[in-house]
Amino acid sequence: MSEEQTANVKGVFDAVVFFNKQIGKRFYRLGLEFSGAGAEAFGNFRPGQFAQLDLRGIALPDGESVPAELADAAQRKILLRRPFSFADVTKKDNKTRVEILYCVVGPASLRMTTLVAGNSVNIIGPLGNGFGVPEGKETALLVVGGMGAGPLECLAKVLTADYPTMEVVAFAGARTAKELPFERQLDAISQQLGFAVPEFSKYGIESLLATDDGSAGHHGMVTELAAEWLGKCSTANEKIIIYACGPEQMLSRVAEIAKGKNIDCQLSMERRMACGFGVCQSCAVECRAGDSNETIYKLCCKDGPVFDAKEVVF
Ligand SMILES: Cc1cc2nc3c(=O)[nH]c(=O)nc-3n(C[C@H](O)[C@H](O)[C@H](O)COP(=O)(O)OP(=O)(O)OC[C@H]3O[C@@H](n4cnc5c(N)ncnc54)[C@H](O)[C@@H]3O)c2cc1C
Ligand code: FES
Repeated sequence: MSEEQTANVKGVFDAVVFFNKQIGKRFYRLGLEFSGAGAEAFGNFRPGQFAQLDLRGIALPDGESVPAELADAAQRKILLRRPFSFADVTKKDNKTRVEILYCVVGPASLRMTTLVAGNSVNIIGPLGNGFGVPEGKETALLVVGGMGAGPLECLAKVLTADYPTMEVVAFAGARTAKELPFERQLDAISQQLGFAVPEFSKYGIESLLATDDGSAGHHGMVTELAAEWLGKCSTANEKIIIYACGPEQMLSRVAEIAKGKNIDCQLSMERRMACGFGVCQSCAVECRAGDSNETIYKLCCKDGPVFDAKEVVF
């Protein structure tokens, strides 16, 4: 996964659902399998890229299963595809299986919950640019805010497979323990040992938690944890890289920390998207134009969603 790797060939493909599992109050994991040309295209998927799912024809859950606060939103018509990253990609026997970690927030994600094994979903992708690993990096920090976990879980797998000597540490934060989008219970002992999150510990990666209300891990912001860890890290700053995905406020703070220490940092940004591949201009991200004070607008779907932290204007 070198920086020079070019974007892979994208297309429109059908994938078959092989599981769809609720893992928290609003969190689900959806498994999709691609065959043929789709398997080839998504077999080259890079962590941080995304796909546009057509969720229009899918049924809503029964009335009682719709959270009261989404009852009105549930009735909205879905015109556009919705962008999702992948939390896992596995190639096997000419098939490619991917997993999406998703949160129910509106009409499309609510419909996703009714997908069952055997259903077909039409998908455009892989889209955008993923994370890169510049030469000479020895330590990687993965900073997750809430639903930002998916792309960084995918990155964790690739880093441990392709860069076995790299030290990788994950930091995950949310408002409360219940809003951490992970599958298993977070027990106090594994938190103390630094293996709180099975989604990272299965790759041998240490993970540290932070919650705003102190219900799991550090009582406070995940960025405080990451900054404290960096303060004790013995790797030279130029050999460290920070990857982050989460709410914009968190990304802005991560960018500040990285700038203060002159550490390379890549951020996965989110924008509302229509086309997903650079045509509609609906997903602008304000960026610095080189070293000048001027700014330009780049497209989250085409130039991102992963951006160098130094270029994003928050
Ligand atoms: C590159 C990319 C990757 C993504 N990956 C994931 C993922 O792996 N898992 C996941 O659960 N979600 C992901 N999302 C967000 C996901 O696309 C939205 O949650 C989804 O489109 C919501 O559709 P909906 O119809 O359910 O809700 P909507 O009614 O469309 O949205 C509900 C509310 O969520 C907020 N919202 C929705 N989309 C965005 C956005 N792109 N940026 C900021 N706020 C938004 C808005 O406030 C909106 O009012 C990703 C978004 C992008 C751009
Ligand atoms: S979503 Fe259309 S240009 Fe980015």
